[in-house]
Amino acid sequence: MKLFIISGASKGLGASLLNLALDDSHIAITISRTKNNKHPHHFHIAHDLAKPKGLDSKLDKALTKIDLKKIKTVHLINNAAVIEPIGDIENFKLEDIEKHLKVNFLTPMALCSWVMRSFDKKMPITIVNISSGAAFHPIINWSLYCGTKSGLKMFTDCLAVDYQTRKNFRALSFSPGVMDTNMQSTIRKQTKKTFKNIGKFKQLKQKNELLPPDKVAMGLYSLIQSQKNITETHYDIRNL
Ligand SMILES: NC(=O)c1ccc[n+]([C@@H]2O[C@H](COP(=O)([O-])OP(=O)(O)OC[C@H]3O[C@@H](n4cnc5c(N)ncnc54)[C@H](OP(=O)(O)O)[C@@H]3O)[C@@H](O)[C@H]2O)c1
Repeated sequence: MKLFIISGASKGLGASLLNLALDDSHIAITISRTKNNKHPHHFHIAHDLAKPKGLDSKLDKALTKIDLKKIKTVHLINNAAVIEPIGDIENFKLEDIEKHLKVNFLTPMALCSWVMRSFDKKMPITIVNISSGAAFHPIINWSLYCGTKSGLKMFTDCLAVDYQTRKNFRALSFSPGVMDTNMQSTIRKQTKKTFKNIGKFKQLKQKNELLPPDKVAMGLYSLIQSQKNITETHYDIRNL
């Protein structure tokens, strides 16, 4: 039995991943502000990741409800993220910048730290940090999102180096492509004033070119289930 720890599994890609894990009778701990799943193998932690204090103790408590003798592998999926604020940096308040960094950058690091110290050294661990094309290319008016996603990509590469001698440890980042989720509707709700390239994203939706999150989740799920295929630290749904 595997333990999946997934941030942001109440909707979008995270919810699709959660369903796949539960359908295969694995155990899941999820973290988000809202919850969408009732299942005996599912332990939900209601927490705002923009305020990460106190999350560790909630995770410790969740672990006490699980029979760890049954767990053969741990998968941490750092999936929760926000796209806003969108616009030019001069318009952002400190609180908005702080919130974005905490959800997209600080929390994934804190969750990795918690996972690496909370399980036996022999426990096989896979860490997946959900990435984006925005980690690799500047996108106009997305400076915070591009900044945190590219930082997370480098953090993932560093984890792979730090734990390279540890058996059964894998760290990878994964770009899911442009998916039909709430994040995309948030993007389409911007104005041309804050997001100059909004037209492109409206067109993707109109032309039905957004990927269904269930399909993307299946690609990632198959990748991490197969021990042998993982040779890189970055994967893109378009190349799977
Ligand atoms: N959608 C795309 O086109 C796209 C493209 C490239 C990369 N990505 C990446 O793919 C991942 C999943 O995106 P998605 O499109 O599925 O997003 P989504 O539909 O907007 O879902 C985001 C998830 O994150 C959680 N979340 C957001 N803010 C939170 C907070 N402050 N505290 C706790 N949880 C929070 C939400 O839960 P609650 O609201 O219940 O808290 C939700 O479950 C993200 O890392 C995103 O950057 C998405």
